[in-house]
Amino acid sequence: MWYLLQWRILGWALWQTVVTASFTPLLPPAYPLAVRNPYLSTWLPGNLAPNLPSGSSQFWYGNNLTWSVIVRVDGQAYSLFGVSDRLEGIEAATVTGGSFTSTHSTFMLTAGSENFTLEFFSPVSPTNLLRQSLPFSYLTVSVGSVSRNSSVQIYSDIDASWTGQPDDAAWGFSTNNSTSLFHLSPVRGATFSENTQNQALWGEVVYATRAQSVNALSSASGSLATIRSQFVKNGLLSNSNANWSSDGVVAFAHDLGTVRRKASVTFAIGHVREQAINYLGKAQTGYYRAIYPSTMCAVSHFLDDYSDAADEATKLDGLIQQGGESSHGTNYSDILALSVRQVYGGLELTIPSDTLDTTDVRAFIKEISSDGNINTVDVIYAAFPIFYILNPDYIRFLLRPVFEYMANSAYTKPYAVHDLGTNYPNATGHDPSGEDMPIEESGNILIMTYAYEQATNKTDISIPYSSTLKQCAQYLTTHGKYPEAQLSLNDALGKLANQTNLAMKAASGLASYGHLTSQQNYTDAGRSIANALYIGRLGTDPNGAYFTIQYGKPDSWFLVYNHYADVLFALDLFPEEAYSATSAFYPTVRKPAGVALGADLDWGQTNWQGFVAAAVTGDARNMFIADMHAYIANTLNDAPFSDRYWVTDTAAGPVAGQYFSFRARPAVGSHFALMALQGANQWSSSG
Ligand SMILES: *[C@@H]1O[C@H](CO)[C@@H](O)[C@H](O)[C@H]1NC(C)=O
Ligand SMILES: *[C@@H]1O[C@H](CO)[C@@H](O)[C@H](O)[C@H]1NC(C)=O
Ligand SMILES: *[C@@H]1O[C@H](CO)[C@@H](O)[C@H](O)[C@H]1NC(C)=O
Ligand SMILES: *[C@@H]1O[C@H](CO)[C@@H](O)[C@H](O)[C@H]1NC(C)=O
Ligand SMILES: *[C@@H]1O[C@H](CO)[C@@H](O)[C@H](O)[C@H]1NC(C)=O
Ligand SMILES: *[C@@H]1O[C@H](CO)[C@@H](O)[C@H](O)[C@H]1NC(C)=O
Ligand SMILES: *[C@@H]1O[C@H](CO)[C@@H](O)[C@H](O)[C@H]1NC(C)=O
Ligand SMILES: *[C@@H]1O[C@H](CO)[C@@H](O)[C@H](O)[C@H]1NC(C)=O
Ligand SMILES: *[C@@H]1O[C@H](CO)[C@@H](O)[C@H](O)[C@H]1NC(C)=O
Ligand SMILES: *[C@@H]1O[C@H](CO)[C@@H](O)[C@H](O)[C@H]1NC(C)=O
Ligand SMILES: *[C@@H]1O[C@H](CO)[C@@H](O)[C@H](O)[C@H]1NC(C)=O
Repeated sequence: MWYLLQWRILGWALWQTVVTASFTPLLPPAYPLAVRNPYLSTWLPGNLAPNLPSGSSQFWYGNNLTWSVIVRVDGQAYSLFGVSDRLEGIEAATVTGGSFTSTHSTFMLTAGSENFTLEFFSPVSPTNLLRQSLPFSYLTVSVGSVSRNSSVQIYSDIDASWTGQPDDAAWGFSTNNSTSLFHLSPVRGATFSENTQNQALWGEVVYATRAQSVNALSSASGSLATIRSQFVKNGLLSNSNANWSSDGVVAFAHDLGTVRRKASVTFAIGHVREQAINYLGKAQTGYYRAIYPSTMCAVSHFLDDYSDAADEATKLDGLIQQGGESSHGTNYSDILALSVRQVYGGLELTIPSDTLDTTDVRAFIKEISSDGNINTVDVIYAAFPIFYILNPDYIRFLLRPVFEYMANSAYTKPYAVHDLGTNYPNATGHDPSGEDMPIEESGNILIMTYAYEQATNKTDISIPYSSTLKQCAQYLTTHGKYPEAQLSLNDALGKLANQTNLAMKAASGLASYGHLTSQQNYTDAGRSIANALYIGRLGTDPNGAYFTIQYGKPDSWFLVYNHYADVLFALDLFPEEAYSATSAFYPTVRKPAGVALGADLDWGQTNWQGFVAAAVTGDARNMFIADMHAYIANTLNDAPFSDRYWVTDTAAGPVAGQYFSFRARPAVGSHFALMALQGANQWSSSG
């Protein structure tokens, strides 16, 4: 779908023009700009894209981050991006279009006689752990065509808003070989602490670039107005650095000279924390630090790696596009492309800070925006389909600390833990008074372990953690059929007893364990629960038309996303008629913008809809994918892919199709549930 938008530009001259820009495949609620981990997560609300020259980028939370691009063409300055302060001598360029893929957000602009392209590229490298772990993102500014002959300079700056402490920061500048780098840090930020917008208050922000030729790069730091004016007037900067000030920026200017062919410059933006995660009292650091222990070396490598990373990104974009299209058309591939960076941008790959042993990898994931917990098991579960497709080792990297913690004497419960700590990056243990989801998390652990082993044939989870797995299976054996009052993944519903969808999780967890360990009696135990739920009508209305939220509540249906494991692994738990019933039923309860999570609710969640889309067929599947697509194409929304949205108009004001809550959660990995039915390991087998 092409999204055409018309708007008026009130130029700084007294005339108006009407311009039409095209955004493909659609104008999303928010474009990922630099999205690599929970602290490097910078977005552009889609509704600002037509006004990119003045539109400010934002941290996932929604607070503005100063990041600008200004160019000069034959002496005239034009803002391309992020110049919200009006400054004499700068005209706004004209946005002609934008697009996104799984790894890139790209904007086209016209400034004077030249066209420019801004490519925001956040690598996603499923099997290259070094590349994936580098906490940087690229911005490439390109210009030119063969027919032109303009003099072009390109400028970009950032400020201390990126440090999380814009009113008390420090900065510095250094160069090594041809790489120039600014670093900015909050003053006196406590290690592992965050500000109220969830930005890291330790570590340093870096902005770097590389001279293209001698004297072609200049830099400066100082007050925003002074530095930008230097560039506007002279096309270069003074190469002098002021101390930090609250109105200050750090800036680079590249002089491309006379441009006769396409030319480009690349910037690296990043956030570096040497101590990345507090894992049970010991620091974990980024995987890349075993190879590039200094920030300068890491950034230099990142810049060196650009063309290899870009080649890989082209392949990955293609795989997601083709896998999405062959699974369910371009609506589905659009949803996937918008989800990829968000999943990988919610996690970090680490190694122990003391040993820097690259065979000792763990991954930590943040429950961004819904509560900030670390390694929440249900968030890992919600994300797992993308890892199953692209690199199942991530399931092990993420679960490893969870298993280690459960095997630890500090954890005494008979069921799987909910999370490893209340606040990322402190994986210091589950708060005993924090959330518990006994059935759901125990089932999740068993299902994901089976998914991992099926996809890899590796027993490096199931052997070392066999007793923890057995404990989870025993818990489900005893408690799975009649779940006591407890939370499910939808903690918004509160604690309910006898939840059908939980018993369904127990059934699939038990059968997964049965297959994993070749113990038929566990598979039988799972099937017996499934039979009771559907054939015995314990969890359905009297006719078996739909599943209920709880036993004995025949009028209250629920979106049973826990069917998924049965479908993915062909466990043969539920009869075909259970699936044809739900496929027929969901379209009958659709509200204007989609199917709610259950009867009596006005909101739905795309993450659980993603699982259900894979478990239903025909019109129902078409409906789920089309509704999710309409939601991401809805220009009322401006948040990083929010998985909870209103499916109908509400008395309180929000309307059908509008975002409700949750931003930038890695839980959108579940959107890949349908593509995962094509098999595991699609990335490595694609070469
Ligand atoms: C954030 O940036 C936008 C421009 O995109 C601007 O209109 C708005 O005033 C800024 N907000 C704050 C709080 O500075
Ligand atoms: C700039 O792009 C427009 C289309 O958006 C095209 O018509 C024009 O020829 C391009 N100009 C240059 C100098 O490439
Ligand atoms: C390009 O511009 C320069 C300076 O304006 C001029 O000297 C030169 O002849 C031009 N070249 C072409 C190919 O137009
Ligand atoms: C440049 O980096 C190398 C390591 O790659 C380091 O040994 C050297 O001291 C650095 N030089 C400067 C001037 O920072
Ligand atoms: C993590 O723990 C440290 C104390 O070790 C504390 O200062 C910091 O605020 C905590 N971080 C978060 C995000 O709560
Ligand atoms: C920066 O601050 C330091 C100490 O506060 C001072 O000695 C130095 O002169 C200042 N530098 C500039 C360029 O103002
Ligand atoms: C600078 O170049 C030298 C020599 O090629 C190299 O050894 C060093 O690692 C480089 N420094 C950085 C930071 O890449
Ligand atoms: C796992 O082993 C089975 C049986 O030997 C084989 O069919 C399958 O291809 C293997 N899968 C992988 C991912 O190696
Ligand atoms: C769960 O359902 C069973 C069978 O309907 C019933 O006997 C039991 O009391 C219910 N449990 C709770 C806690 O409501
Ligand atoms: C399955 O059989 C094993 C022994 O063979 C037993 O330990 C276990 O409790 C049984 N599990 C179930 C669910 O019946
Ligand atoms: C694709 O999604 C749009 C909503 O954005 C919907 O109108 C359209 O019918 C869907 N196309 C298909 C083939 O389902």
